[in-house]
Amino acid sequence: MSLSRRDFCLRAAVSVPLLSLLKARAMAQALQETGLKDLYKHDFLIGTAVSNRTLQQKDEAMLALIAKEFSAISPENCLKWGEVHPDTDRWQWELPDRYVQFGLDHKMFILGHTLVWHSQIPRNLFMEAGSAVSRDILLKRLEDHIRTLVGRFKGKITAWDVVNEAVDEDKGWRKSGWFNIIGPECLEKAFHLAHEVDGKAQLLYNDYNLHNPKKAEFVAEFVRDFKKRGVPIHGVGMQCHEGMDYSKIEELEASILLFAKAGVRVHITELDVDILPRKEQTSTAEVSTRYEYADTLNPWPKGLPEEMEKKLAKRYEELFRLFLKHRDKIDRVTTWGTSDDESWKNSFPIPGRTNYPLLFDRQKQRKAAYYAVAALKG
Ligand code: G3I
Repeated sequence: MSLSRRDFCLRAAVSVPLLSLLKARAMAQALQETGLKDLYKHDFLIGTAVSNRTLQQKDEAMLALIAKEFSAISPENCLKWGEVHPDTDRWQWELPDRYVQFGLDHKMFILGHTLVWHSQIPRNLFMEAGSAVSRDILLKRLEDHIRTLVGRFKGKITAWDVVNEAVDEDKGWRKSGWFNIIGPECLEKAFHLAHEVDGKAQLLYNDYNLHNPKKAEFVAEFVRDFKKRGVPIHGVGMQCHEGMDYSKIEELEASILLFAKAGVRVHITELDVDILPRKEQTSTAEVSTRYEYADTLNPWPKGLPEEMEKKLAKRYEELFRLFLKHRDKIDRVTTWGTSDDESWKNSFPIPGRTNYPLLFDRQKQRKAAYYAVAALKG
């Protein structure tokens, strides 16, 4: 993982022309021993998502890289309902236990993701004997799930994404099984329960496309309402699955200000930047979206041209400039994965592409984007 000083200076000089060689050299030396988490320690936590593959294989190189560079971790998949609790009486603790222990060993901020979501749930969660389950039974399932899961990691998991993606763009509440069977009160019930089980855990609402002013306002409104009525909510997670030309910095900024004004902390929870061509002029992280593969939509299967590396670095730089500007409102900036090869963006929304959305390349080396982010603290 170590990078020669000369190599660093060259890369830094290319990606950040104003950075003096001396500064770059000093930073290169510092970065030999430390990582992004250290550069940003006075600003906010720097996080990443840990994949199931990393946990299953106990991938030492990846775990060492994460420990060196990051101060916060998120479980990419292993704590989702369908993975940790696939049947009513069956729990799969191996990966979650490994994930939490890794975070404890390295004194990290450990996120739990996620308690209430419409996706990655057991097929029969909303069903009983072939028909829709009753409201009371679903509430009981929710309660058992939260009591067992939050209870097991009480005092260890720092914060929970209590509810994930319950809002449907400009259409208000998402019409999921949770909404259809329990109604919007499902959210506050989940927050109350999680708080009852672990009164010290920070409790967050997490969603994508929160740069969208209408979606952001809808979220801010229920946050204000929760605060007024004493529903324990402490933060909003803005996923930030970004592209090269979306979201607009001004829109992201407006949402950060909106949530801070509503009285909660902001977490940037799933940051990545998609550099590949888009099929349509819409951006989404809606997991069911799929398009057919075409070579024209996969222009760099063998590596990203230097010019595009630089553009990606610039995009990361402007995003982190914004986050730094609002460091007093932001607790954490987490990328959704560590190295490009493990990103969900290689198969979403078009399967089989080669994407470059993260800060480390396929050899787990720091990319120009990494150095652009590091240089902001130079
Ligand atoms: O569980 C099966 C496993 O048994 C099997 O061996 C494996 C082989 O392909 O597939 C496993 O399921 C996959 C799962 O990831 C775990 O690896 C699913 O097919 C796959 O769809 C799933 O994708 C995840 C996606 O959420 C599903 O919703 C991505 O890795 C994960 O990055 C992504 O993360 C979400 C956040 O939780 C919420 N916000 C959006 C974000 C991106 O979609």
